[in-house]
Amino acid sequence: MQNPVFREIAAEIQRFGETARELADLQQFSVNLIAEKLSSYNWVGFYMLDPHEPGTLVLGPFRGAPTEHVRIPITEGICGAAVAQGETVVVDDVSSDPRYLACSLETRSEIVVPIEVNGKIVGEIDIDSHRQKAFGTEDRTFLELCAAIVGQFIAAR
Ligand code: SME
Repeated sequence: MQNPVFREIAAEIQRFGETARELADLQQFSVNLIAEKLSSYNWVGFYMLDPHEPGTLVLGPFRGAPTEHVRIPITEGICGAAVAQGETVVVDDVSSDPRYLACSLETRSEIVVPIEVNGKIVGEIDIDSHRQKAFGTEDRTFLELCAAIVGQFIAAR
């Protein structure tokens, strides 16, 4: 990762995770930091699989406009696609992707990164941008690192 801002944010999340008590605290810290430091990341949030209904994602801590999508079946949306495919999904132009579930009319592009624990997806980080094509290779590497840090935090509990 070339961008020092990405490296610093990931390092701060890692450090916070070393003393955090609750997953929700680490998630809230992460969404706040990411949204504050990266101006094109306009909506930043976690969706976690419902342990009682593993086919459904539940909205967790987020930063940005409130969304009606508080529960998303894994058969729907870009969020569902990332779980179903088991990998990061990047959409450069949400208006041309039929899977897209609108959260804000201003959103132009989106990236969803799965969080794994012991090889199983337990949730994801979802980011929306008002800019088209906002998420490149570096963003993906950075967010996959953030997802790995959160996954390790969960695994250690
Ligand atoms: N756009 C997402 C829904 C969540 S909102 O962006 C916050 C999707 O298509 O799954």
